[in-house]
Amino acid sequence: MRGRVILLGFVAAAAVLGYLIWGAPILAVRPARASTEGGDVKAGRELYVRYCATCHGESGRGDGASAASFASKPADLTDGHLMNALPNEFLHNIIMHGGPAEGLSPGMPPMSAYLGADQVRQVIAYVRSTAAPPFRPEMAKPLVSYPRAPRQPILFNHVIHAGSFQIPCQYCHADARRSEYAGLPSVERCLGCHKIIGAQDNPEIAKIHEHAKRGQAIPWVRIYKLPEFTYFSHKPHVRIGLECQTCHGPIERMRVVGADTGPKLSDDLIRLLGFRPSPRPLSMGWCIECHREQNATRGSKAPLECVTCHH
Ligand code: HEC
Ligand code: HEC
Ligand code: HEC
Ligand code: HEC
Ligand code: HEC
Ligand code: HEC
Repeated sequence: MRGRVILLGFVAAAAVLGYLIWGAPILAVRPARASTEGGDVKAGRELYVRYCATCHGESGRGDGASAASFASKPADLTDGHLMNALPNEFLHNIIMHGGPAEGLSPGMPPMSAYLGADQVRQVIAYVRSTAAPPFRPEMAKPLVSYPRAPRQPILFNHVIHAGSFQIPCQYCHADARRSEYAGLPSVERCLGCHKIIGAQDNPEIAKIHEHAKRGQAIPWVRIYKLPEFTYFSHKPHVRIGLECQTCHGPIERMRVVGADTGPKLSDDLIRLLGFRPSPRPLSMGWCIECHREQNATRGSKAPLECVTCHH
């Protein structure tokens, strides 16, 4: 099943690329030297017409001549609602290394054999210039990554789900407001959308269907974890209005969720020398510091007694 799915995507992409490289009239593309933004957009437009328009369309709306042959349709690159939040490096990675580099379908081919880094920058500048609503640089903050982030069984991307499509965190982590745990979405919840989206030509999404067929949960690797002897509950924290990002960081900008948490020996040593490093997430100092601050500033009754967190 997966083999066939990958093949389908590649065949479609290869056919179009073949046409592009050998069949299309070669436009005069001057070496890209323009340093002004206007120059980038102009050079980017030429590259776009040559390398992207057959699939993404002359206008960028995903309606190119060969768009119909793809199950996952070429993206509408002018849709600012979806595109504006995507960081430059994220777009760069997709354009250079193809859709699968970010978990998307192989219908989006890698362009690194045809475009250099400067040219990709120009294509991005051009695509940004076509966005409606218009793009402003502060909309696409840089990606956040952790070197020790685990490898997950499926390349599930928060940048796409929570960043681009803005699916609310609690749509997937639905237990956060009513229980101790935030919870992870079930396979059925994924399928609510992916019975159709990406089902025919995206190998990462084929994995969801395989788990469903076998009746297995997806074995996600856990990231945030307190030691057994502590008690934490999401409910009071979410109910009082703390944003998920206060504790978990900008998840919508993580291609792979990671964290740098827990107490650290070097911090303890620095403390012995009389300095006060800010406490690391999920360390006891982090809980206590926020509880003190919240109690002082908003009159909450966050506990400071040992037994509340250590039963
Ligand atoms: C062979 C056809 C083809 C060509 C050529 C092509 N694309 Fe794509 N592109 C696709 C398809 C199909 C998708 C959708 C993948 C998916 O949704 O899984 C896509 C998706 C994308 C995305 C992801 C958008 C998002 O919402 O995350 C970007 C960015 C992109 N293409 C840019 C480009 C650029 C820039 C070029 C030219 C340098 C280009 N593509 C050339 C087929 C193509
Ligand atoms: C509310 C709808 C919705 C739900 C629920 C949902 N997705 Fe998606 N997913 C999308 C959309 C929209 C895309 C973008 C498709 C595209 O551009 O081709 C996407 C893309 C993907 C992709 C390809 C890009 C990436 O993120 O790597 C994967 C893999 C994926 N989803 C996995 C999952 C998994 C696993 C679940 C359940 C934990 C899930 N999705 C739940 C809507 C959803
Ligand atoms: C479409 C469903 C979906 C949406 C929307 C979503 N998540 Fe997730 N989230 C997942 C899945 C699946 C995982 C497990 C795989 C992973 O770690 O990437 C996960 C993992 C996490 C983790 C790590 C859990 C652990 O193991 O410790 C955190 C924290 C998290 N999400 C927070 C958020 C926040 C904050 C938002 C909103 C900005 C959000 N998520 C939006 C599906 C989703
Ligand atoms: C006050 C800090 C705080 C806030 C706010 C917070 N979390 Fe957490 N989150 C944690 C801690 C601490 C853990 C580890 C809990 C444990 O190991 O028992 C965790 C664990 C998780 C996990 C993995 C295990 C699970 O199911 O609980 C997910 C997913 C998650 N959080 C998502 C979210 C989402 C989504 C929100 C917003 C709706 C959110 N968190 C708000 C601190 C927080
Ligand atoms: C960003 C600030 C913040 C962080 C970080 C934080 N808390 Fe809290 N916590 C609060 C606030 C505010 C309340 C009070 C909620 C209320 O009054 O309803 C609270 C309440 C609690 C409660 C009482 C729950 C109840 O049922 O009354 C416990 C237990 C708790 N926190 C444990 C923890 C632990 C353990 C950690 C660290 C892993 C932690 N908190 C980190 C802000 C925080
Ligand atoms: C707001 C919640 C909270 C309160 C209140 C709290 N703790 Fe903790 N404590 C934690 C968390 C979370 C950890 C685990 C992370 C760590 O080791 O820093 C922890 C860890 C510890 C550890 C193990 C430290 C280590 O290095 O392994 C001890 C001992 C401890 N707490 C004692 C206490 C005592 C004694 C009190 C009362 C004076 C107290 N705690 C109050 C949350 C709390």
